[in-house]
Amino acid sequence: MAVLSVPDAPVGDWLEAAARRLSRRSYDGRPVAEDALAALESVCERFRSAAEVRTVLAREAPPDMFRGILGSYGRISGAPSALAFVGPAAGEDVPVAIGYSGETAVLEATRLGLGTCWVSGLFRRSTAAAIADCDAGEAVWAVSPVGYPRATLSGAERLLYRQKPGRARHRLAAGEIAPGIGSAWPDWACKGVEAARHAPSAANRQPWRFRYEGDHVVIAYAGPESVKYPKRLDCGIAMLHFELAARASGVPGSWLLLAGGADVASWVVE
Ligand SMILES: Cc1cc2nc3c(=O)[nH]c(=O)nc-3n(C[C@H](O)[C@H](O)[C@H](O)COP(=O)(O)O)c2cc1C
Repeated sequence: MAVLSVPDAPVGDWLEAAARRLSRRSYDGRPVAEDALAALESVCERFRSAAEVRTVLAREAPPDMFRGILGSYGRISGAPSALAFVGPAAGEDVPVAIGYSGETAVLEATRLGLGTCWVSGLFRRSTAAAIADCDAGEAVWAVSPVGYPRATLSGAERLLYRQKPGRARHRLAAGEIAPGIGSAWPDWACKGVEAARHAPSAANRQPWRFRYEGDHVVIAYAGPESVKYPKRLDCGIAMLHFELAARASGVPGSWLLLAGGADVASWVVE
């Protein structure tokens, strides 16, 4: 059974990045500094936690990658670089691993002062597949712009932040994503849930739900799965956030992926 863990993660830096990260869609066009690109590339290489998935940094984002998009959702402008989140085109574990390992690059970019925005909806898939040099059987599951965000929110970003349910920053309460959370839960698990609350998700739907089962924590998704926008990918992102907080609390472990239902993975303490 597949296992995910990042024992070598810079836990403190990435937890801090997770708390302040915000999807940014409008960039000032300046090229990203060489040392930042090198640091990001090194994380893409080091944290390929599941062998078949990879995150590719395109130092120069192809100009048409984020085009063809209607409305403010997903309208990306001025990004000099991009990430492509690549893996096998099918497989239940694939979106989980894509979200989990892709978020390592997103948090590293945030640590470096760069903006990002997971985009799994409208992007030019053929362009993204070309920069990622995809093999037959591989697909780009999502992309992200990388660059220096404009100091102020663009009109499109402001509009988006007023919309529901995609309104950024709005988060479900801990009790909604972890029913029964409270004194019966150990501190590390409460902190894990709190870190997961900050995770980005498609349309900000926050599908993750946590259960504490005595000695382990299960993450599941709520409602039916979506073939086009897998909730398992969102859960993979939240799993990385949870793990960083658990590790920061001195409770290392690993995620055991679960098959065949809404339960996605189980955090098993070492
Ligand atoms: C898997 C995934 C796919 C997303 N797809 C898009 C997208 O296609 N277009 C877009 O503008 N934002 C997209 N987002 C960004 C979400 O809308 C954003 O994370 C959410 O609204 C929460 O806001 P925040 O990231 O600023 O906290 C996506 C996020 C995730 C995790």
